Amino acid sequence: MLETTLPPTFPTSDPRPAALAATARAVTRTYGRGDSAVHALRGVDLDVPAGRFTAVMGASGSGKSTLMHCLAGLDRPTSGTVSVAGTELQALDDTRLTVFRREQLGFVFQSFNLLPMLTAGQNIVLPLELAGRRVEGERREWYDHVVSVLGLADRLGHRPGELSGGQQQRVAIARALVSRPTLIFADEPTGNLDSESSAEVLGFLRRSVRELGQTVVMVTHELDAAAYADDVVVIADGRVRAHLVDPAADEILAALRVKAGAR
Ligand SMILES: Nc1ncnc2c1ncn2[C@@H]1O[C@H](COP(=O)(O)OP(=O)(O)OP(=O)(O)O)[C@@H](O)[C@H]1O
Ligand SMILES: [Mg+2]
Repeated sequence: MLETTLPPTFPTSDPRPAALAATARAVTRTYGRGDSAVHALRGVDLDVPAGRFTAVMGASGSGKSTLMHCLAGLDRPTSGTVSVAGTELQALDDTRLTVFRREQLGFVFQSFNLLPMLTAGQNIVLPLELAGRRVEGERREWYDHVVSVLGLADRLGHRPGELSGGQQQRVAIARALVSRPTLIFADEPTGNLDSESSAEVLGFLRRSVRELGQTVVMVTHELDAAAYADDVVVIADGRVRAHLVDPAADEILAALRVKAGAR
């Protein structure tokens, strides 16, 4: 079973190779120096296909969040290269990287990160307003579509404190979708939700890929959450252990167990 899981890239024999939303090449990230150095990433090669829902799994401390932060330009690799939407991130200084993130990426965090004094609707359009884009014409139509797909139409005037956890996370997803980013990164997006709200949020993330053409990379440690994804990347000790395409649950479990057994 491991043979089918090992190649981190798609076979070159594929007649229609998937377009790539992001790539990592020989990415390392070391925290600290000398004896106390922590090698969070030890040489990651990864292709993230566009238009798919990719879950990143692995044990606590395996490097999932570090990898996501390097892919998303929130952290810089110690060595190696990351490219998103054809742009090499190391070529951008901090200011251009910030602009790049705002224009190309969307984020969904475990803690929702909504602004409490703004309504749901105001939170959703905030990234557009920060980028100086007016919500009108096609952009308005897209906003209305996203709001309706996420079932938020009758909640737009409420503040986050007046919404359930699941509704707040749907607002955060709408906020990530509204600027049509190349990639949405979600780090444990259901970590603070009950199982019903989790299923709902994961269902919406999947719909955003299937129906809105979005690319989503989601870090999760829950097998139930990974089951919503198209592909599953298993990280172990700072490396890609497996890149599973359309895996069944037992394949994911096997890849996770291989890692546990190897320790
Ligand atoms: N800022 C930091 N300084 C020092 N070490 C760090 C820092 N951030 C992460 N690490 C270490 O790097 C390793 C990978 O951490 P990371 O947060 O990427 O793991 P993770 O897979 O996301 O874990 P979890 O499932 O617990 O969120 C861990 O050993 C962690 O302690
Ligand atoms: Mg983490």
